[in-house]
Amino acid sequence: MKKILITGGSGLIGTILNNHLMVNYEVHNLDINKPKNKDHNIFIGNMNKYQDVLESSKDANIIIHLGAAVQMDSDWKLVFNNNIESTKNVYEAAKNNNVKKVIFASSNHAVGLFENDSPYKEIVRGEYRDLDPNKIKKIDENVPVRPDSFYGVSKAFGEAIGRYYYETYKIQSINLRIGTVQKIDSPKSSIRHYATWLSHKDIAQLVEKSIIHDLEFEIFYGVSNNKWRFWDIKNSYNKISYEPVENAENYR
Ligand SMILES: NC(=O)c1ccc[n+]([C@@H]2O[C@H](COP(=O)([O-])OP(=O)(O)OC[C@H]3O[C@@H](n4cnc5c(N)ncnc54)[C@H](O)[C@@H]3O)[C@@H](O)[C@H]2O)c1
Repeated sequence: MKKILITGGSGLIGTILNNHLMVNYEVHNLDINKPKNKDHNIFIGNMNKYQDVLESSKDANIIIHLGAAVQMDSDWKLVFNNNIESTKNVYEAAKNNNVKKVIFASSNHAVGLFENDSPYKEIVRGEYRDLDPNKIKKIDENVPVRPDSFYGVSKAFGEAIGRYYYETYKIQSINLRIGTVQKIDSPKSSIRHYATWLSHKDIAQLVEKSIIHDLEFEIFYGVSNNKWRFWDIKNSYNKISYEPVENAENYR
């Protein structure tokens, strides 16, 4: 049975993934907070402390790195400690513990400034007039990073350090540019979410398929099969057969 360490495993996405993965994997978590479910294994620790990451990832085959300051408007100090220093700790521990793969929760905010441009700025406001969803030029994994915040910068950094550890130490680095995952599993809380929503079922599928397949350095967009999505999921379809089953349009 593969051993997986999830950083930030007590959070929203960590809880979804624990529930899904604990059937087939030995799942462990590193978090400063206790898990909501007492059946989830926890190492209470801080990702900013290298020793905590090193110890908690011992014997792990895969690290799913979710732990972070998650607010888009987080200040630099918070982002630096929880997203930058911690991500370096995760890759360094992966190297020293012979972990084969890191799956990193990147974010759409690494390319968020595309939303200042047409047609994306209209779509996130729900101004669909004159737009054909089938003709939207999708943002793919080859566009330049365009972070929209210190938070977005930290996610671009996470992808860059992943590239470094993949090319130098052959650690598989799978970077998921996650859209919007909500506690209440629906896109209804904002018009933007009809484009960006990623359902619980679909993130579980994306992560599990990223675990199963042998990969290199990858960037996959994490989004459901929404009518108005503007991120390209061909790369994950081709490499890991990711086929999201939800479409936000069914929730209007
Ligand atoms: N939820 C979304 O819509 C979304 C979108 C894009 C990207 N992401 C990314 O996915 C990841 C998980 O997001 P989430 O929605 O589950 O967030 P969350 O806030 O629910 O979970 C984050 C967890 O990280 C833990 N954590 C933070 N700093 C830590 C530290 N220094 N040491 C140990 N644990 C620490 C927190 O205690 C928390 O349990 C984050 O990296 C986030 O940036 C989420």
